[in-house]
Amino acid sequence: MPEQIDWQPLHDRAVEMTARAYAPYSGYPVGVAGLVDDGRVVAGCNVENAGYGVTLCAECGMVSDLVAGGGGRLVAVWCVDGRGETLMPCGRCRQLVWEHGGADCLLQTPEGVLRMDEVLPQAFGAENLDRR
Ligand code: THU
Repeated sequence: MPEQIDWQPLHDRAVEMTARAYAPYSGYPVGVAGLVDDGRVVAGCNVENAGYGVTLCAECGMVSDLVAGGGGRLVAVWCVDGRGETLMPCGRCRQLVWEHGGADCLLQTPEGVLRMDEVLPQAFGAENLDRR
């Protein structure tokens, strides 16, 4: 439930991460933080590249932090822009969060806290591959 998540530390961490972003091409820093089911907070920032399409979104870094730090399930995620405003993760990054948080994971959005299955309905996931 949204009320049970301590959101402020996630926002603080996401804002901290925007200061570490490498965004010389877009000038658009992004930071993200996620609460893991074991209580850890994982985070990431965007890392751009001269080959624009190679750019890593902030959520990529967060997921890498999650897995490299021992794994677990994301239960809440907050992504922000360079002004600390809530940023809706791009489509690809919703898929990343889906993989590691699933339908129940909560996401801060410009329209308030939503579940992942509200922002990525009918998602493709591991269950689909189980039916192969
Ligand atoms: N960006 C993210 O880091 N996450 C998103 O969900 C949307 C976009 C970054 C990628 C790029 O460095 C910059 O924002 C502008 O697109």
